[in-house]
Amino acid sequence: MVDWEGPLKEAYDRATAYLEGLPERRVGPRVSAEELHETLGGPLPSGPTDPREVVARLAEGVEHGLLPSGSGRFFGFVFGGATPASLAADWLTTTWDQNAGLYAASPAAAVVEDITAGWLVELFGLPRGTSVGFVTGAQMANFTGLAAARHEVLRRAGWDVERDGLIGAPPIRVLAGAERHDTIDRALRFLGLGTSCIVPIAVDSQGRMRPDALANALNDDGPQIVCAQVGNVNTGASDPITEVCDLAHAHQAWVHVDGAFGLWAAVSSQLRVLVDGIELADSWASDAHKWLNVPYDSGLVLCAHPDAHRAAMSIRAAYLIQDEDGERDSLDFNPEFSRRARGIPVYAAIRALGRTGIAEIVDRCHAMAQRFAGILAANDVQVLNDVVLNQVLVRFGDDDAVTRRVVSEVQDEGTCWMSGTTWQGRAAMRISVSNWTTGPADIDLSADSVLAVLRKVS
Ligand SMILES: Cc1ncc(COP(=O)(O)O)c(C=O)c1O
Repeated sequence: MVDWEGPLKEAYDRATAYLEGLPERRVGPRVSAEELHETLGGPLPSGPTDPREVVARLAEGVEHGLLPSGSGRFFGFVFGGATPASLAADWLTTTWDQNAGLYAASPAAAVVEDITAGWLVELFGLPRGTSVGFVTGAQMANFTGLAAARHEVLRRAGWDVERDGLIGAPPIRVLAGAERHDTIDRALRFLGLGTSCIVPIAVDSQGRMRPDALANALNDDGPQIVCAQVGNVNTGASDPITEVCDLAHAHQAWVHVDGAFGLWAAVSSQLRVLVDGIELADSWASDAHKWLNVPYDSGLVLCAHPDAHRAAMSIRAAYLIQDEDGERDSLDFNPEFSRRARGIPVYAAIRALGRTGIAEIVDRCHAMAQRFAGILAANDVQVLNDVVLNQVLVRFGDDDAVTRRVVSEVQDEGTCWMSGTTWQGRAAMRISVSNWTTGPADIDLSADSVLAVLRKVS
């Protein structure tokens, strides 16, 4: 009989020890790349090793090289951790190992994802009938949303891009805020549109697209896509979506919204105002692996025009089992062919938290971001942004080198972890409060650490 229990029990013990140790754990890796190569490397295994031993040695080998991004004092990038229900469901998803591309390949996965899609549309307050794809992350969600946009704006211009490609096609202008996320540019590269199709739209001091600049840039000379954003990766600010959509639609442009983390503000009755008008857009990108705290890889693409979404993504093959009138086949909405059933952990997260639980995480992260900013500001640290969501940008004096040194020494000190950025030409520390466990004690300890490092550096 196959010994499943040995390696799985080893993994379970290691996993629970890791998770339970997170609150006390140093927030940073403890070894160099060389040490990791030394511990984990070696010659290609010439023969088998006992699976339980493999798991144990792997866990020991990686232990000190992990960046504990599930900690309540991890504020780097915009990461988020994992809730118990989503993590456990993720394990089962791996165990069941379903190919979620087709209903016929996994009726259960297809139905769970169909239900989850409906819940997401309702949570975000988007139009009924909006189609959903469960992709790897917001990068691929932006790619997929923009593929649907490319299809539709060219279709309206009488061009079939899926059949005829882009050579000879009417040129598409992509109007995007100057502070868009870089994955928009990368998606346009993948789509064959290239980055030179981008018309950058001027933004205000918080990185929000300026409607007057958008109005000046829109024209009626050909296909246009407007890329808006809710949740700037540095400031957390959102474009004025109602105005953006009204302006764009008056010129028959498609509006795609990158809401990798910011779209979750729609779930909070307190913060929904930040994304007012979101339901007017044509497609949206978001992540479950950020603010919903579902394990990686979990991105979401949503589209108000299922026909365009499907036209851009779908595929037929004689050996597949595809019933046009039957249940949803997710490969009609995804760029992948075979893929894991990544909607299942999203389903579990939403079931466990409910609307109020998700809103509570969003509101608490917002309050904790304000608390962090407040403590630092009270100690003469310059807060560069309006803390409207979960992002805080700070700067320590006029010298970029000091700010960069504080960032690096805070990382070394290990109480908390955050990274740096350049905002409007000047170095800044960025603090992203995206973890479902972060509470006041985490903020106070972390702010103390930042201030202690600052005193030392100054
Ligand atoms: C606004 C925005 N868009 C896109 C992305 C890319 O998301 P992912 O890493 O899930 O592909 C991010 C990541 O932080 C983001 O903040």
